[in-house]
Order: sequence, then structure tokens, then C-alpha cells
Amino acid sequence: MSNRKKIVFLTGAGMSAESGISTFRDAGGLWEQYPVMQVASHTGWLQDPDLVTRFYNERRRQLFTTQPCGGHKLVASLEQDHEVVVITQNVDDLHERAGSTNVIHLHGELLKVCSSRDVENPRYWQTLTPDNYEVVPGTLAADGSLLRPYIVFFEEAVPMIAPAAEQVGKADVFVIIGTSLNVYPAAGLINYTRSGIPIYLIDPKDVSVPYGFNVTHIKAGATEGMKQIVEKLRRI
Ligand code: OAD
Repeated sequence: MSNRKKIVFLTGAGMSAESGISTFRDAGGLWEQYPVMQVASHTGWLQDPDLVTRFYNERRRQLFTTQPCGGHKLVASLEQDHEVVVITQNVDDLHERAGSTNVIHLHGELLKVCSSRDVENPRYWQTLTPDNYEVVPGTLAADGSLLRPYIVFFEEAVPMIAPAAEQVGKADVFVIIGTSLNVYPAAGLINYTRSGIPIYLIDPKDVSVPYGFNVTHIKAGATEGMKQIVEKLRRI
């Protein structure tokens, strides 16, 4: 197709809100219910790994009750006509389940657990399944260290940020969906866009975006916003 574009998405918790997964910072969001530094920081993990293990067991239990929403499906459907890369801050697998084949997880993956001594070593990764998703606190990885969720905790480096930035730098269209852009380095990815490319932001609320970018705000939820993007892409 001659009008084939490279479309890069940056998604956050709002992408999965219509699937029934709570966002973090909206009213009633996850960080109102749980102290973020206890359950999602490196210090919190060291202080009380059992609590953190139980917190992520609960997140997995919820994930298995959810399905991709219309927005996830529309993102995946664009692969028929375009090169699509999804960079997500979400740890769920809803983009993959909707059919997206090129997903970069910036903040880890809920269905994976790893060695706490050697987090990025795939030898010690395990993939959890719906009938075996619960990690018993105290379980060890194959290297003898405590098995931990494969989540990028606050205070830790984000290993996938460099490949993500490289993809953003090659985008013809950049689409941001459902992120408050509070958390770095993910929020800084917009700085890697080539100058002048169309940038769309889908979010029902106002989100503060750095100055100097050509951002069109589609003030809608993920599914409705993606319907509009699909229409616009027909015309670009
Ligand atoms: P936030 O909870 O900070 O932001 C969610 C955004 O989604 C807000 O701007 C909402 O307005 C928007 N939103 C709500 N409902 C929506 C809908 N139906 N459609 C589209 N947008 C909607 O979540 P993130 O920005 O993703 O990290 O948070 C970033 C990181 O902070 C997370 O990856 C997580 C968290 O701490 C870790 O846990 C490592």
C-alpha cells in the first residue's frame, strides 16, 4: 500500500481502563488504594517482598478476568495497512491479546517473573499462566535468589527506553493514549519525534505536553479516540 506509514503508539493505564483495569492516578486509582513506594519501588521490594509478591498476584488474578477493549483492537487492526509499533507503560498483555505483534513493554510484564539478582537474564524468566499465576511468597528463582515480578520498579533503570526512543525517532505518526505523562523516562519519548510529524493525544482529560509539538488532543476514551485516528489515517 503506497500510503503505508510507520505509526508509533505510546500507551498508558488509560488504554486498559475500558477493559476494567484501574488507572493509577485518577480518582479511585490504584495509587490511592496502595502506597506506591511500598508495592512498586525497589526499596519497597527489599523491605517487604512478600507484600509485593501478593500485590502482583492480585494484579494477575484481575488481569485474567479482563479482555482487550475496542481501542486495543483498533490499534492492532492498523497492522493490516501500516507498520505499527506499540510502546506501552502497561504491564498487562492486552495489546498482544488484541493481536499487536510489535509491543515494547517499558515497565515490565505482569505475566513474567524473574530472578531478583539478575532481573534481565532470560534464563531465569518464567511465564505465568491463568491456572498457575500465583507466586507463593518466598519462592526462589533458578539462581537461588528470590523470585520477583518482572516489573520495572521506581528507582530502577528502564532498559527498554533506548529501543523505544529509536522507534519514536522513525515514526511518521505518533499517538499517545491514556497516560498522564507523569512518569519519566516514558513521558520524555515525545522529544524523540522528528520535527513536524503529526502527534495525537487520546485522553478524556487535559494532559500537559511539552511546548513546541504539533499535538492534536482527541478528548475521548481510548476506543472512541482510536475510531477517530483510523478515520484520520485514511485521509493523511
Ligand atoms: P495514570 O494513571 O497516571 O494516567 C492515566 C491516564 O489515562 C490519565 O491521563 C487519564 O485521564 C487517562 N484515562 C482514563 N480513562 C481513560 C480512557 N477510557 N481512555 C483513555 N484515557 C483514559 O497512568 P500512566 O500514565 O500509565 O508504573 O502511569 C505511568 C506509570 O505510573 C505506570 O506505568 C505505573 C505507574 O506507577 C509502574 O508501576 C512501574
